[in-house]
Amino acid sequence: MSNEAVKSKLSPTYHYKDLEKQAQKKLTHEVFTYIQSGSGNEETLRANEEAFKKYKLVPEFLHDVSKCDLSISVLGQTFQTPFLLAPVGHLGAAHPEGELAVARAAKGYQVPYVASTVSTYTLEEIADALGDTPRWFQLYWSKDSELTVSFVQRAEKAGYSAIVITIDTPALGFREANLTNQFFPVREGYGLANYFQDPIFRSRLNESPEENWDAAIDELVKITFHPKLTWNDLAFLRKHTNLPIILKGVLHPKDSIRAIEYMVDGVIVSNHGGRQLDGAVASLDALPKVVEAVNGKIPVLFDSGIRRGPDVVKVISLGADAVLIGRPYVYGLAHNGQDGVEELFNHLLTDIDTTLATAGKSSIRTCQLPGFVNIR
Ligand SMILES: Cc1cc2nc3c(=O)[nH]c(=O)nc-3n(C[C@H](O)[C@H](O)[C@H](O)COP(=O)(O)O)c2cc1C
Repeated sequence: MSNEAVKSKLSPTYHYKDLEKQAQKKLTHEVFTYIQSGSGNEETLRANEEAFKKYKLVPEFLHDVSKCDLSISVLGQTFQTPFLLAPVGHLGAAHPEGELAVARAAKGYQVPYVASTVSTYTLEEIADALGDTPRWFQLYWSKDSELTVSFVQRAEKAGYSAIVITIDTPALGFREANLTNQFFPVREGYGLANYFQDPIFRSRLNESPEENWDAAIDELVKITFHPKLTWNDLAFLRKHTNLPIILKGVLHPKDSIRAIEYMVDGVIVSNHGGRQLDGAVASLDALPKVVEAVNGKIPVLFDSGIRRGPDVVKVISLGADAVLIGRPYVYGLAHNGQDGVEELFNHLLTDIDTTLATAGKSSIRTCQLPGFVNIR
């Protein structure tokens, strides 16, 4: 869709906080808090957004910006938008159509989608809804290695073109808000589909999930995360897939160097939107050192804290190849299903387009030229 067409579909007002409020009105307190909150004292959650204020753009003018190119390339694929949809689990809690509504919106705008392991619909159903939209599969590497292989092979068969291993979740973060609310999405029935439909998972159960739901949930909880996972295990996955492997959750430059040593194809600088280690460095503050360490050898992507167009442009200017957005599209979904996600896309695309034009850049690819971004 052209940016002019996108602009003509804008609703009158948009502010990230308004969108958050709209979502809040539609959701129960427990579900809204599950999405919005971070771990612990939420220091990292706050730091993610705050960090953007430290970086300032320095525009250069009198260039033709009548048409701005927002496309980017990652791992040989060209994407029409500089943002991908971050893997967000349990989307059925935000809206009954969950991942399917997001996938249909993504299809209309050709926004690449990273599907979570803990989705409410299966990865195959999401792939069907996406049609030819680029898609990657996010893997929570299970303690059950045969199940891990099964997920990856199913993803490969369903047309996912990369595996994103989330490395920052050897255990779930200490999410005080959810503990206070006693809200655990898996126990509420969200995020089960990939497991309950998987032949390997089902073979582990004495009774099927349909016969004994509680026992199936207990098994799922037991095997979802893998605290013993190490760098050496990556070779195991390599043996089972030809897809590129991307690590999500890199913050230390040493991890990005290890990623290259272990033949990983890309990294995502992320602190899981402040939901894992509270007190962790803001994603944006971690980015420049990772970009320096990687030195162009593999793509560097970024998430955590992106709310507006200038945020996207700052991240790309600091050396990232692409960004992922999380909560903003989930709020769009909660607010108004597929239409709500499309509305979010309209605003974000227009904001990015306008940011480029008012910075004197006709292409997002030229943002990395020296001198465009400054630290205060
Ligand atoms: C409700 C919620 C669920 C999430 N589920 C997953 C998940 O299943 N897998 C994963 O790797 N990251 C998950 N994330 C983290 C996102 O992929 C992403 O890192 C984060 O949302 C980016 O920060 P932002 O929300 O500030 O954009 C989740 C985030 C939220 C808010």
